[in-house]
Amino acid sequence: MLAPVKTSIGKKAIMGVTGVLLVLFVLGHMTGNLLIFAGRDAINEYARFLHEAGHGALIWVARLGLLAVFVTHMSLAFILRAENRMARPVRYVVEDTVQASWASRNMMLTGIVMLLFLIYHIAHFTLGATDPATFKGAFEPRGEQKLEDVYQMVVKGFQQPVVAGLYLLAQLALCVHLWHGAGSWMQSLGLNRGKLRQTSRLVGPVIALAVLAGNTLIVLACLLGIVTV
Ligand code: HEM
Repeated sequence: MLAPVKTSIGKKAIMGVTGVLLVLFVLGHMTGNLLIFAGRDAINEYARFLHEAGHGALIWVARLGLLAVFVTHMSLAFILRAENRMARPVRYVVEDTVQASWASRNMMLTGIVMLLFLIYHIAHFTLGATDPATFKGAFEPRGEQKLEDVYQMVVKGFQQPVVAGLYLLAQLALCVHLWHGAGSWMQSLGLNRGKLRQTSRLVGPVIALAVLAGNTLIVLACLLGIVTV
């Protein structure tokens, strides 16, 4: 095994670095998706750019990189949890976790909800398996353009209350996960002392609320008919 992975401090550091990369992805993905408010062409052109960059090779590099980061982050969470349990097989009668927030004590739960959401989300918007009737290729091409219609897929998807409800629930779980996780890397790197103390406490909640606001805005705008096809 690689040296840093052997110690629990090393594992926590790798979790921190992979966590930051995932936060950057979530922020970038949300910013791109907010283009839905700029209209059909804006988001469709953006999706086409992502798919065609580097003759379609770049998206595969990004996909594989993201998958590796996600699997590393998740595996280390399970390994660290197992190691903690082995070090302390009998749980305390009275847990001394008064200082720890609900968000920090439930990272495994919200993380597993995110994993389930991601499986559903990729089946929905990348593979078109859960809702083939609204998948991007299912629509008539407009004029001469054979553009895959991501705009229409997203709007028609979220017009369905059950689908919108699932996404909204997942955004709540993501918000709770980021509330603790999006700032805890600063603690791992020792950046939570002195002048940075206050900032390090705010980073997680600020990112969590920004992502919740941006993503729920997209879902609600489609569900409530503010954005239409
Ligand atoms: C309301 C919120 C969201 C919307 C509207 C949305 C929208 C989309 C769309 C339209 C695609 C397909 C893009 C394409 O094929 O051109 C996609 C793919 C994807 N989304 Fe989201 N997404 C949302 C939230 C999230 C969140 C919270 C995560 C991660 C935690 C996420 C992770 C992914 C991943 C990994 C893919 C697959 C990318 C690929 O390889 O094609 N999404 N999303």
